[in-house]
Parts: sequence; structure tokens; C-alpha cells
Amino acid sequence: MNNKRIGLIGCGAMGSALGKGFVQKVGIDPSLIYLYDINKERMQALADELNAQTTENLSELVPHCQHIFLAVKPQDLESVLYSVKDMFNQQQIFTSIAAGITIDYIESCLSYESKVVRLMPNTPCLIGKGTIAISVGENVTSDEQEEVEALLKPLGLTIRLPEYLMDAATGLSGTGPAYVFLFIETMIDAGVSVGIRRDVASEMVIQNIIGSALMLRENDKHPAELRNIVTSPSGTTATALQVLEESGFRHCLLKSVIEATKRAKELRSV
Ligand SMILES: NC(=O)c1ccc[n+]([C@@H]2O[C@H](COP(=O)([O-])OP(=O)(O)OC[C@H]3O[C@@H](n4cnc5c(N)ncnc54)[C@H](OP(=O)(O)O)[C@@H]3O)[C@@H](O)[C@H]2O)c1
Repeated sequence: MNNKRIGLIGCGAMGSALGKGFVQKVGIDPSLIYLYDINKERMQALADELNAQTTENLSELVPHCQHIFLAVKPQDLESVLYSVKDMFNQQQIFTSIAAGITIDYIESCLSYESKVVRLMPNTPCLIGKGTIAISVGENVTSDEQEEVEALLKPLGLTIRLPEYLMDAATGLSGTGPAYVFLFIETMIDAGVSVGIRRDVASEMVIQNIIGSALMLRENDKHPAELRNIVTSPSGTTATALQVLEESGFRHCLLKSVIEATKRAKELRSV
């Protein structure tokens, strides 16, 4: 990245995750990171934490940065794009993380010659364990795509996807940590219900998730295969799995991802 300056518009949950990742994981010099948010307190808090630059308005950020990350809510993106329309040049790369907003739409607001990248990250980027789906517009060269990926790789796993799958990536992985947190929360409550102290139950459940995920990664086996290994005839696991099936566990998860994907599409028209 040499000494390229990075602008971050929107310093909320995901903007902060990106900013912290750039400084703490990628090792970008914080003096090269320019922040802007209409919420000045939020921007200042992130600037203080990272030692990054704050800006008063977009004209203090956009003309000075080679990479500009757009981390505002989808419904706020249009006004940001129209505000920057007369401030940028065609060499700058705009990277949007807004759910549902297409590359074509962003180009239509900026210009059809502009360089646009679309990402779908998730919050584990904060600790370098995120999943980041990436699609690029046709004006982005492969070197530029690699440059953006190099910025993102320390934040987690980057996965190139054709743009038509970005809404699906939103439903599956952008939203994914929330499904896992709900699962963990419920498992901890279940541990308490059967008599285990909450702090102990919490340790057990988190380790269970980490251990199971690592087994999948390291063994290269299908999840059903690993599940079958621990399911003895008429045993406790078989009983628990029967309850999950009867309660529509799979159906609920499938429907959650499908509905979240539909919602990502709807955000285009909000
Ligand atoms: N949260 C996730 O897990 C997740 C995952 C993947 C992708 N995303 C995407 O990431 C984007 C940001 O989501 P988030 O959860 O980080 O939202 P957020 O926490 O609400 O942060 C957005 C920030 O942008 C500020 N803002 C609003 N309008 C602005 C403007 N015109 N100029 C500059 N700043 C402005 C907001 O201020 P106010 O609060 O005062 O409006 C807020 O501080 C969204 O597009 C979302 O689709 C989120």
C-alpha cells in the first residue's frame, strides 16, 4: 500500500471494525487514515482510539485519499455519493460495504468511469477472523483488486464472488455472526437451565463452537459425517437431534438466510 491515504466515511460498527483492522492488523500508519462521520462524537472516539485524522466535511477527505471506504447505512449512501460527485478523480477507488447497493448504482451516482468495489464483510473482521465477500466493477484493474484484497486479508478470509451473489453473501455471512451469537446465547441459557453456572456454561459453549469449527476445517469432512460419529443409537445426541428436527431447526435457519437475502435486495429500493 506504500503511503496511500485511506478515507473512511461512516465510523459506526463496521466502519470502526475496518478502521481498527487497518491500523491494528494491516499495520497502516494511522496518520494516513482520514475519518468522516456526521456523528462527531463517534468519529472522535475512533480517531482517539486509532490516532487517525478527523475531518470536518467530505471535501477534507475525498480529494486526499486514494482509497475511500463507504461505511454508512444503505439509506444514507445516496446523499454521500452525490456530495462527493464533484470531488473525486477516476484513479480513486471507492469501496462500499452497504448491503444491497449495487456497483452499477454507485457508478451511476459517481460516474460510469469510476472505480468501484463492493464488499460484504462481517463483524469478526474486528479480530482478524472476518469473512469478506468481494466484487469489483469493470473499471477496477486486477492489480487494484489485489491491492484492496491485500488491505482486507488481515481482517479475515476474502472470497471473490460474482456480484449477483452479494445479497446472498449478506444473508449468509454479513448477518451470520448474529445467528451464531443467538445460538451461543441460547446454549448458555440451556446450560444454566440444567444446573451449570452461567460463567462455566459460557466457557463450555464457546469452546464447543471453536472446537467444532476447527474440526470441520482440519478434517475436511462433511458436517453430517462428524455429527454421525457422535450420535450413538438411542443415545443423548440422537434424542437431542430428534427434538431439533421436530422443532424445525433446519427450516428456521434456511428461512432466516433466505429472508435476510431478500431483505438485502429490498434495501436497494429504501
Ligand atoms: N453491522 C453489520 O454487521 C454489517 C455487516 C456487513 C455490512 N454492513 C454494512 O455496513 C454499513 C454500515 O453499517 P453499520 O452497522 O456500521 O452502521 P452504523 O453503526 O449505523 O454506522 C454508520 C455511521 O454512519 C453515520 N452516517 C450517517 N449518514 C452519514 C453521512 N451522510 N456521512 C457520514 N456519516 C454518516 C452514522 O451516523 P448516525 O448514527 O448519526 O446516523 C453512523 O455513525 C451498512 O451499509 C451495512 O449495510 C453492516
